[in-house]
Amino acid sequence: MAKKLFVRTYGCQMNVYDSARMADVLAPLGYAQADAPDGADMVILNTCHIREKASEKTFSELGRLNLLKQERRAAGGDLTIAVAGCVAQAEGAEILARAPYVDIVVGPQSYHRLPELIARAARAGGQVLATDFPAEPKFDHLPEDGAAPGPQAFLSVQEGCDKFCTFCVVPYTRGAEYSRPVAAIVAEADRLARQGALEITLLGQNVNAFHGEGPDGRAWGLGRLIRRIAEIDGIERLRYTTSHPADLDEALIEAHRDVARLMPFLHLPVQSGSDRILAAMNRRHTAADYLRSIDRLRRARPDIALSSDFIVGFPGETEAEFAATLDLAERVGFAQAYSFKYSPRPGTPAASMEDRVSEEEKAERLERLREVLERHRLAFNRRSVGRTVDVLVERSGRKPGQLIGRTPYLQAIHFDGPARLIGRILSVEVDSAHGISLGGHAALAAEAAA
Ligand code: SAH
Ligand code: SF4
Ligand code: F3S
Repeated sequence: MAKKLFVRTYGCQMNVYDSARMADVLAPLGYAQADAPDGADMVILNTCHIREKASEKTFSELGRLNLLKQERRAAGGDLTIAVAGCVAQAEGAEILARAPYVDIVVGPQSYHRLPELIARAARAGGQVLATDFPAEPKFDHLPEDGAAPGPQAFLSVQEGCDKFCTFCVVPYTRGAEYSRPVAAIVAEADRLARQGALEITLLGQNVNAFHGEGPDGRAWGLGRLIRRIAEIDGIERLRYTTSHPADLDEALIEAHRDVARLMPFLHLPVQSGSDRILAAMNRRHTAADYLRSIDRLRRARPDIALSSDFIVGFPGETEAEFAATLDLAERVGFAQAYSFKYSPRPGTPAASMEDRVSEEEKAERLERLREVLERHRLAFNRRSVGRTVDVLVERSGRKPGQLIGRTPYLQAIHFDGPARLIGRILSVEVDSAHGISLGGHAALAAEAAA
């Protein structure tokens, strides 16, 4: 009888990719994916350590899983519990001590070993821990085949980070920067295209630092990789995330100018508009550098939609330094952005810096920044009204007969249409703009052709 696997994913898109790959690794062992923990034989929590709140979710979820495991044992069965991802990497030993019912702790670079770890846990009847950074990258050991993606697929091309921003855990949880060889990436993209993906998002913690070995033996940058993948039949749309401002080179900007399939959208985290704070964060760019990059991008692709991440209340941030962040946000006019209160992370340099900003101050700054970001987002969305845009239809909406998709600018848009249109790219006329989404109707020609 088939065993059931449930994977719960927290954190970034790289974790979403990893969760799918873990399921691919376990499929040959007879594990089929379940959509809830209740009937599962094995549950994997793929965790995130980026902020305190994200990390805390792991332990509360583990408490619930323990109850399920006890129930299952009382009924003569069992439940294998594995913790994967960035909390596993950062706090592996602590998890085993605090949660003795956890069977397996596996880091983000070791999950290709899951079959062996499951066997070891079963044999030993105890806990197993795999959080080393193996010399050989996990990609060399992952199956070439995998479950079919939806119309939208993720593809990890780069892993880890060597930037060491002083607030960030990623260099510690994901390890050193590594780029996959171009041939392996192209093979995976070919497979995704054959399985029906229309859109691929190339992933990396620092994706524009990509420098994978090309078929010519030379290191290829991300711009060149994008041109190559854009040649694959069936891949209508390409995106990539997340980029670092210091690694934005001319070749990538030119790809935005020349490659029609590369969507006019860029997520380029800036974190702060103050040069003193940027230096304290070890970001390796100034506010002026960032604004110059934005100008170059807009010259290459005038309609490009920009997105960013911000941190407010970094240690020592003054009111004037925060005002510089508001100013930068006003000047760029982001189409969307994420903003966070600074969260001290154990082991990072910023966690031991003096001059903590109070929680009230952080909350107040976050609110002021969000007001600016939301105003620009709404303005950007309003400029879409009356236009006809290509929409990749991803899924059904909450209301009956409603479909939800994405515009080239990554805006969510809902409109009425039959479910058979899911997985197609349609022309949709935008009728209305809301804070986080658009409303529209499918243009008639597209409906008739469908
Ligand atoms: N690799 C990306 C983003 C990694 S994490 C980059 O280079 O920017 C995603 C976002 O989480 C970051 O951009 C940052 O805004 C936020 N973040 C990271 N560490 C944080 C912390 N300690 N407190 C608050 N926000 C944080
Ligand atoms: Fe973290 Fe900075 Fe690396 Fe992004 S670039 S993952 S914020 S250390
Ligand atoms: Fe979180 Fe790890 Fe991604 S800390 S944001 S899951 S790289």
